[in-house]
Amino acid sequence: MRSRVDRHDVSSVPVRRMCTGATPTSIAPVPDRECPLLGRVGIGGRVGLGHRAGSTARRADLDLERAPGCTVDDMEYTPFGGPEGPRVSTLALGALPFGAGVDEPTSFALLDRFVEAGGTFIDTADCYCFWVAGRTGRESEELLGRWLASRKNRDGLVISTKLGAQPDPELATTWPRNAEGLSAKTVRAAAEGSLRRLGTDHVDVLFAHLEDRSVDFVETVGAFADLVADGLIGQAGVSNHPTSRIKQARAAAVELGVPGYTAVQQRHSFLTPKPGASFEIQEAADDDLLALVRAQDDLSMMAYTALLEGALVREDRPLPRQYQTPQNERRRAALWRTAQEAGVTRAQLALAWVLRGDPQIIPVLGVSTLSQLDDALGAPAVPADALAALAVAVDEAEAEAGAE
Ligand SMILES: NC(=O)c1ccc[n+]([C@@H]2O[C@H](COP(=O)([O-])OP(=O)(O)OC[C@H]3O[C@@H](n4cnc5c(N)ncnc54)[C@H](OP(=O)(O)O)[C@@H]3O)[C@@H](O)[C@H]2O)c1
Repeated sequence: MRSRVDRHDVSSVPVRRMCTGATPTSIAPVPDRECPLLGRVGIGGRVGLGHRAGSTARRADLDLERAPGCTVDDMEYTPFGGPEGPRVSTLALGALPFGAGVDEPTSFALLDRFVEAGGTFIDTADCYCFWVAGRTGRESEELLGRWLASRKNRDGLVISTKLGAQPDPELATTWPRNAEGLSAKTVRAAAEGSLRRLGTDHVDVLFAHLEDRSVDFVETVGAFADLVADGLIGQAGVSNHPTSRIKQARAAAVELGVPGYTAVQQRHSFLTPKPGASFEIQEAADDDLLALVRAQDDLSMMAYTALLEGALVREDRPLPRQYQTPQNERRRAALWRTAQEAGVTRAQLALAWVLRGDPQIIPVLGVSTLSQLDDALGAPAVPADALAALAVAVDEAEAEAGAE
């Protein structure tokens, strides 16, 4: 995605929202669980980049229905998956814990608040959160289906979901070896299941959630293209695949003369993992992927773990082991110091760093309370000079470390 945005002249945060109608938050008492897709699902206890000018627009410039009861100041919009793709809010709301770690009233309140604030892009998967005791993995899509039906707002939203990671009960192995995978038969059946649970006749973006090396990627690409041709999905996306495989799959689509992957969703944040760090089935964005997204007009990127599961915000949450380096500790300290000096929150600065990068990347917000959501919604309002100050702070921290 090439589009960039003019910065706003907003210098004071934490952010004010002018939205109404939220219900108080309450989180189901689900114990902390290690999540095979996420690393950690936050449900326990309660569970130097350049800028470009481009086509990102404010909601007011768009012919989108505005949710009532809210003045929308800060949300921005950009085409997704190519210049002709749907316009999406540049923040997406992640629905991973909805219906599992976050109860239904709270999930509905979060969804309502996001839409009231101008958000139009919601991300889920057909397996959230199968790893939580007593859950099937269908909860997030099912909850979204109930919310869409009750709010009757499907037409104003862009929904992304994912397939391939749900455990197959027929396979007597452990996850991820028993993941459903990416055969043509599974792709079609899983897509139809998502449509049923979401109560919609199409999803806008359908991601291959993880690699399936047992299937020729040409078969998978063909299966996704058939879904596009049949109008069941708007576009195909790929998540947790190495960049080389993404390139191969996109080249295969060109060869076949069919639509290829136009969206990618990987781990990505202000901190870089150690060289060679393994995330098992997850994949972190590398420089090659960022260069690809920068160069290709028809490929948009979403970032998950933009807050490193809370470790970029909270003192009580250590960096994930793949990020535990002295350099990353210095970068995190620089982020926190700069946020304080600039009068923005840590989450806002970390999200703005993703949002304002080159290429522009859509962070998928991970929130479990309304206050966390309100915090994140202020990211587009972070002033450019706060990001410039962050770059300086990082350089100074490195210089100091080098001098020691
Ligand atoms: N493609 C994939 O394989 C994949 C994998 C993972 C996630 N995702 C997507 O990405 C979404 C986001 O998940 P994520 O884990 O990547 O999110 P994240 O941004 O790395 O972490 C989110 C967590 O950080 C904490 N947090 C957020 N805002 C905070 C604040 N203002 N103050 C203090 N703590 C705060 C919360 O923890 P608590 O809830 O514990 O308070 C929250 O759950 C998911 O919903 C899903 O849609 C995709």
